[in-house]
This record gives sequence, structure tokens and C-alpha cells, in this order.
Amino acid sequence: MNLAIIGTGYVGLTTGTCFAEVGHNVVCVDNNAKKIDMLSHGEMPIYEPDLEEMIVSNVSAGRLHFSTNLAEAVKCSEIIFIAVPTPPHEDGSVDLSYIEEVSHAIADTLSPELGYRIIVDKSTVPVSTGDRVSEVIARYAPDEVDIDVVSNPEFLREGSAVSDLMNPDRVVIGADSQRAMDMMKRVYQPFNAPIVEVDLPSAEMIKHAANSFLALKISYINAVSAVCEKAGADVEQVAMGIGMDKRISRHFLNAGLGYGGSCFPKDVKGFINIADKLGAPLNILKEVEHINNRQCERFIERIRQKLWVLRNKRIAVWGIAFKQNTDDVRESVAVKIIRRLCDEGSIVTAYDPKAAESGALALQGYPVTISQDMYECTRDAEVLIVATEWRQFAMANLPKVRELMRLPIIFDGRNIIHGENAVSAGFEYHSVGRKSLYPAK
Ligand code: UGA
Repeated sequence: MNLAIIGTGYVGLTTGTCFAEVGHNVVCVDNNAKKIDMLSHGEMPIYEPDLEEMIVSNVSAGRLHFSTNLAEAVKCSEIIFIAVPTPPHEDGSVDLSYIEEVSHAIADTLSPELGYRIIVDKSTVPVSTGDRVSEVIARYAPDEVDIDVVSNPEFLREGSAVSDLMNPDRVVIGADSQRAMDMMKRVYQPFNAPIVEVDLPSAEMIKHAANSFLALKISYINAVSAVCEKAGADVEQVAMGIGMDKRISRHFLNAGLGYGGSCFPKDVKGFINIADKLGAPLNILKEVEHINNRQCERFIERIRQKLWVLRNKRIAVWGIAFKQNTDDVRESVAVKIIRRLCDEGSIVTAYDPKAAESGALALQGYPVTISQDMYECTRDAEVLIVATEWRQFAMANLPKVRELMRLPIIFDGRNIIHGENAVSAGFEYHSVGRKSLYPAK
């Protein structure tokens, strides 16, 4: 099928590439000419495992194209996916101006001669956005155009976007016309995934409800981790014990520094705002947010308790990205911690395998040193903080780190380092929701 994707961020670019991979003819459109130029020359604007190879092979197979020409893309494509950002406003409500702009631009290019077109909302949007898109099209396009608006939320995670897209747990399609539903099912037929056929508002609601539920799971285990610390219990053992119940599942029960990224913080806020506006408040999500903010504060407080004062302390931080396998630092808890430590006068050196560049930008104005080597980062440090769950931190050569550091103290904010190994290397080891471990005197 001929498909257009408007917006080449994480979602648009990966979705377009995976559609091409299964045989569709795809044009990815963005109004950022520099980005389109980069992509056309085989350069990647983001880091995402396996994406670059897939782009290169589909471009050379002639199935994947990049363009700034939205009108041309609409002309050539039976289905147009909108995958533009929906950032939060100050009050938590969702900024839909990019969706409106693109809908308007699509409407301007539609004509009865083009034939039937489906406009699909892939961005995360509040319920009833689909109706708004239909209104915009009706307002600006000629009367006789034949279109349907569909909601098809995306559930990919950064860092595993390609594999999530190629093997989805489910594909949600919200459509109010059978013709649109049937065409959408053809798009996804090669993926062999269960298709959830629902009405448009339910599809829109599923995305916010899913992300908020996952955030709730994380905050739940983080709240339990605080109780574990007081009670001398081990949150990892608790998570294992409750997670083996299939009704609960072990996924997203990793206690740590709280959730970050461009989705959960924004979507929880967005869902709270939508529910408030509809007069059906979701107070439970306000608590989810509160726990998430507390989790990072509690961690900094524990480091302060250990060092007494943070001012002029040399602190090494492993991790800047909001999670492993990405260079994305948006709403990263690691960045938040680094900023806080800098504000307190600590001397901070940070390392991240992929987010050095994006991290340096996010930390502009903060006196942090970004190290190019994870071991050098720890030289003369009095505390090592693990702030992102990169696998290479879990596999670190701890005796080597011990030799480099001034004091043998690890604060593992992601519970990924093997505590016994840290102690054997001479460290005292502090983690989240577990007893601290100390080397034998
Ligand atoms: C999330 C959802 O998982 C995707 O399904 C959704 O498509 C995406 O948002 C989106 O709306 O676009 P993402 O933000 O890329 O994906 O990353 P996650 O793997 O969900 O991690 C989010 C945050 O939660 C990270 O900061 C991670 O460190 C944290 N996390 C995750 C935990 O603290 N504990 C866990 O057990 C799992």
C-alpha cells in the first residue's frame, strides 16, 4: 500500500521504516528540511537500535522515501498517518497545535479527484481529537472529499522501538467506518498481531489509559520500595513474588528513580487534565505523579545523609539518558539528579554511552563535566551514582572502579549492580528498596 507518515520523530520514523520493511511503499514527511536532508543522505537524527540498518536497506529497495512536500505525499498515499509531537502545556493539558496545523495542511491538498483517503492519528492525543481533525478537514477541504479519520495509537518503547513495532502485543484501530477498518487491517496484516477493533474515542482513550497504568505500576513498586527500606525487606524479592502472579506480571515493577522520558510524565499529566475537564477526576494519577517526584528526592536525601554535605563533593554519575538504549534525555531523572547536585555545589562528572551530546545540551549552564569513558568518569569520585539502567553499568569491572575512586561508595538508583560483587570489590553498596551492604571490617 502507499502510505505517508507526517512527522519523523521517534514514532513517525520508526513506524514508517517498519511499514516499508513489510513491503509497503512509504514516504516520511517532515517540515524540518535539515532532518529530511540528513535522512536522505543516510544520516540518523536519533539513536535507536537496528533502525539505521533498516532505513538504509529500505531506501535502497526503493520502498522508503523522505520529503518535505506534504501535498505530494497526500496525493500519492491512500493512508496518511499523523505522527507529530503533542507536547504538554504549562497546566498539563495537551498542546494539539501541531495536529491542527497538519490536519489543515492535509485538508488544503485534498480534492474529490484524489479519491478516498484515510487520515490516521498516531500521536498520543486526548479523547475526541479525532472528531476535531474531522472538523478541520470539513472546514478547509472541498465538500465532496471522501475521507475517514482513524485512531491508531502507537505502543513502541524507545530503545526497543523496532522490535516492538515488528512484534506488537496488539494493534489498536479505532474507526467509525468499516471501509477504513478494512484498509487499516490490510496495513497491519503482515505483522501477524492481534487487532483490537474499537470505536474512535475508545482507541484514543486506550493509549492514555495504558501509559498511565504502566506509570502507576512503576509508582506502586516505588512506593513499596520506600516501605521495604524502612522494614528491612527487599523490593526485588517482593516484585518477583508478586510478579509471578499472572494477573499482576513482573513487567514494569522495577523499582528505581522513577519514570522519565517524553511519554509517561506528559501522558499522566494529560490524562489527569482530560479527566478533570470531563468532570471525572483521576486523583489516583495525582498520587502516581507525587510518588514519582518523591522517589528521586528520597534518593538524593539518602546520598546527603551519607556525605553530610553535598557541596564540593566529587560525584560520578553513570547515565544521562532517561532509560537504556537511547540518546533521549527528555524528562530524564538522571538529568534532574545531575542538575540538583550541581545546584548544591557538588563537582559532577557524568557518562552515558549514547547521550553525551544530547546530555551536554540538556545540561548547558550547569558546571558538569561529561566524560567519554565510564571508568575515567569515576576517577577521584567520592560517590558513584547509577542513574540509568544501561547494561554495561551492570557488567562494570568494579575492582577497576574501586581503584579509581577516592571513596568506595555506590548509590545504585536502578538496582542493576550485583550488590555482593560490589561488596567483594570493597564498596559499600546502596540501592533502592533494599538493605545497604557494607564490606566486612
Ligand atoms: C512508553 C511506553 O512503554 C510505550 O508503550 C509507549 O508507546 C511510549 O511510552 C509512548 O507513549 O510513546 P518509553 O517512554 O519509550 O515508552 O519507555 P519505557 O520503557 O516505558 O520507560 C519509561 C520510563 O519508565 C523510563 O524512565 C524507565 O526507566 C522507567 N521504568 C520502566 C521504571 O522505572 N521501571 C520499570 O519497571 C519500567
